[in-house]
Amino acid sequence: MVNTEAKYIMSIDQGTTSSRAIIVNHDGEIVGSSQAEFEQFYPQPGWVEHDANLIWNNVQQVIAGAFIDGGINPSQIAAIGLTNQRETTVVWDKQTGKPIYHAIVWQSRQTADLAEQLIQDGHQEMIQAKTGLVIDAYFSATKIRWILDQVEGAQARAEAGELLFGTIDSWLLYKLTDGDVHNTDYTNASRTMLFNIHTLEWDQDILNLLNIPRQMLPEVKSNSELLGTTKSYLFFNYEIPITGMAGDQQAALFGQLAFEPGMVKSTYGTGSFIIANLGSEAFLSKHNLLTTIAYVLDGEVTYALEGSIFVAGSAVQWLRDGLQLIENSAETEALAFQSDNEDQVYLVPAFTGLGAPYWNSHARGSLFGLTRGTTKADLAQATLQSIAYQVNDIIDTMRLDTDVAITELRVDGGASLNDFLMQFQADITGVKLTRAKNLETTALGAAYLAGLGIGFWKNREDLMQFVTPGNEYFANMSDEHRRRLIKGWQRAVKTTEYYAE
Ligand code: G3P
Repeated sequence: MVNTEAKYIMSIDQGTTSSRAIIVNHDGEIVGSSQAEFEQFYPQPGWVEHDANLIWNNVQQVIAGAFIDGGINPSQIAAIGLTNQRETTVVWDKQTGKPIYHAIVWQSRQTADLAEQLIQDGHQEMIQAKTGLVIDAYFSATKIRWILDQVEGAQARAEAGELLFGTIDSWLLYKLTDGDVHNTDYTNASRTMLFNIHTLEWDQDILNLLNIPRQMLPEVKSNSELLGTTKSYLFFNYEIPITGMAGDQQAALFGQLAFEPGMVKSTYGTGSFIIANLGSEAFLSKHNLLTTIAYVLDGEVTYALEGSIFVAGSAVQWLRDGLQLIENSAETEALAFQSDNEDQVYLVPAFTGLGAPYWNSHARGSLFGLTRGTTKADLAQATLQSIAYQVNDIIDTMRLDTDVAITELRVDGGASLNDFLMQFQADITGVKLTRAKNLETTALGAAYLAGLGIGFWKNREDLMQFVTPGNEYFANMSDEHRRRLIKGWQRAVKTTEYYAE
């Protein structure tokens, strides 16, 4: 069945700890939504895994929830957009559709030794030149190798064409199309460490190096085109085109409508990801930032420079779930404002190593500057500040790397609602922050891509009607104070790294 009265776009955002579905009308308004968390697995220290089947169940739940919430039925959906936690790796059986191992999550460090070996063997330059990435366990490549090594017979089965690999976008597309389609998109492919971002092809040299059979890999599509068509009872058997797909951070850049080179966004989620639009130039960082694909539209590639921080909002979750110091994340705002610790307590939340610009897989979290008088408010403050310091490290590195004058940061993500964090970010970075009015920039970005893909919206100019900036935060800290704080932070990071060796 084909929809005849479709007037909405559905967007599915599959994140690291929860999935969400929203339904958007032609005015860009969200008219239905649903969100649900799902189980995380930590089989060993530093490892993070998901059950890909549970993710699929969770996604089905939020799709149904969004329909119910909006009082909308599948015949009214013109197209679907898909966005996802990136890099997380699933390998499944082509016949049965069953994963052969848990999904290895982007945060997981179980392939740190393998990544280190690649660096020691001198492959860093080649990998960066081709993929734009720094060698790290973060990306999918070493995770695929690990699964093929750990699951008995997997390598032979992959070589025989019996196994498929996909990041979560690809896995969900496969499920939504009932196994008909094995595709991914350029943004997700660019996070695998197997994809040549210049030729826009899977790179045979890297595949050979890691002995990964090419036949496992999905076909790569652009971000706004027909990627597949639903084949599921969930949609009452309507064949809804899936016409938008992008990794969540790229979708957030798109959702922030940051289409001009030099525009920068920072998303405060589980981790924090700072992305600068580079335009058509695949500039390679000299300071360990990542060059990645922002989007490919109408055959034109837009690149981005990215700094990836592994632990941001999850540090606040640690205060809540690990230390049980708070009952909910929002409490940190008032606590941090109460603290009068003169900023001498520093948390380095390297719970799963340190990402950009340090790339230290073995680092683990540390706390500095504790005294007998340290309070829970001080810890809350240090936790929020640790997020801002990490983001500041990235912005500083971007300034070092490029001649782009970064004067504004467009922010989104759950933790961007925290006024203490936002003001401290503006102060420590010395830039203006503009928070998106609608924080669902990631899901909206995927909705925009899907809408463009079927002509629901005409072009990017048509999307500009949705620019609705929310709160602004202005820097208000003396240079001397800022320098002193940053010096303390840098000392704490150095000590953490030293301790890791
Ligand atoms: O690269 C990892 C990133 O895509 C995860 O995003 O929002 O699920 O924490 P999030």
